[in-house]
Amino acid sequence: MDPTRVLLDCEYQIAPVDPRIFGGFLEHVGRAVYQGVYDPQSPCADAQGFRTDVLNHLEPLRFTAMRYPGGNFASGYHWLNGVGPRASRPTLQELASLSIEPNQFGTDEFICLARRLNWTPMLTVNLGTGTPEEARDWVEYCNSPCGTKYANLRAGNGAAAPYGVKLWCLGNEMDGPWQQGYAPAGHYAIRARQAAKLMRDTDPSIELVVCGSAETGLPTYLEWDRTVLEYVGDTVDYVSLHRYVGNLKGDTADYLAVTNSIDEQIEVMAAVCRCAQARARSHKRIQLSFDEWNVWYRTQNAESVNGHGQYAQHLVEEEYDLQDALVVAGFLNSFIRHADVVKIANLAQIVNVIAPILTRGDQALRQSIYYPFRLYAQRREGVALQPVVRGPGYESASYGFVHAIDTSAILGDGCLHLFLINRSLDEPAPVEVSVGGLRLAAVRAAEVVSGPCPTSRNTFDQPDTIGSQAFKTIELCDGGARIQLPPLSAAAVTFETRPARGPVGGSVA
Ligand code: AHR
Repeated sequence: MDPTRVLLDCEYQIAPVDPRIFGGFLEHVGRAVYQGVYDPQSPCADAQGFRTDVLNHLEPLRFTAMRYPGGNFASGYHWLNGVGPRASRPTLQELASLSIEPNQFGTDEFICLARRLNWTPMLTVNLGTGTPEEARDWVEYCNSPCGTKYANLRAGNGAAAPYGVKLWCLGNEMDGPWQQGYAPAGHYAIRARQAAKLMRDTDPSIELVVCGSAETGLPTYLEWDRTVLEYVGDTVDYVSLHRYVGNLKGDTADYLAVTNSIDEQIEVMAAVCRCAQARARSHKRIQLSFDEWNVWYRTQNAESVNGHGQYAQHLVEEEYDLQDALVVAGFLNSFIRHADVVKIANLAQIVNVIAPILTRGDQALRQSIYYPFRLYAQRREGVALQPVVRGPGYESASYGFVHAIDTSAILGDGCLHLFLINRSLDEPAPVEVSVGGLRLAAVRAAEVVSGPCPTSRNTFDQPDTIGSQAFKTIELCDGGARIQLPPLSAAAVTFETRPARGPVGGSVA
């Protein structure tokens, strides 16, 4: 393959990377909570009932914003059922996944887990079957000092100091006919605005995410967003985007080009926000919260989300392969390239349900998508740079032209983090990197995720087929670097940087 040139310049900055784009999502569905993070019966459980093997795998992913308790689950959830003495919490029919919800894990357990793993809690209020007042009461429970009813209730449950939950989602996917309390845009917008006012009056410091379109394929796509943003744009901070992708055609090259449409989804939503803002003659910028994203297609059907009236069933336990891992890396590249507008993003989800970690009995497996997320999470501090890519590529049937190499870059303190994906199924890719205004002086750390073929995956019997290895085919030259990427790979390289001594790419003595 001909070399690809990646041209960067330390002055071509997009925006600081918001650490919250490395968020996750924990929902009460299937075995995400029960038998996932919380499993008091497991020999791996600690005194609080958390599964330490799962927590040990979660830790290196360094999740930031953690969205909870749903998802679709949130639209039927009444938070009061999940607080107080466990023995008196009700067991309920759960309608989003037709399961049994024992309410043994609720707000206090979630906050405890969030503190343990250094997550920023992001709570979704029930705007499906709940009321704006119930949402407000939850803000008081979490954020108000003692002295009033729900703050006192929190204190009575063991937490005298407020939890200080800053991020709140105004419902979930309210444009989806599958959603409890599904409503037309104008109707939802009124509900969201009422809730926003009560919640903000309770704690003016909170940030609010309003529901954008759940899917790009819905007939109301963008019209929903425009209507909602024009009504509530001045009272919220973010609009949500959701996206699940998959290799539906069995065509890996086409699938790996899906990043074009992720870029497009972000850019179109940012444009809708600007349009709503301009029509309102407002200076307020609504930013994007990409609060559900992942690969999900093998288990995306009615049966996979049907718990048949049982507790903790094996729902939507997608098994991921190498090509999925590269697509996950592609999502992250896209978020970094759009750091000026994407401020929050949540991998959906974290354990068992469409997740990087799968449990079976007392075992916990790291799936292929675990590894690219970990590479990025370890290199997330800095300012996103605008990359220019020159080199070979191909025309994909569904998403148009893509380069063989997908990339993003973060300029850190004395270092540059470079992320590269080689989309070629069978060819190694030579990449020449140059950075205006800087010299790449040394490789501080470099890792690559690859594997035998696009469909290779980890199993409980063979857990290490896909992993990350030290990446060595990197040569420094003239202040830049020459890199050789294996076929079907995602690499992350951290370079030590020094000020440039001369013109771009030069080394004038
Ligand atoms: O993440 C699984 C489900 O996907 C969520 O509950 C819902 O919001 C989305 O449709």
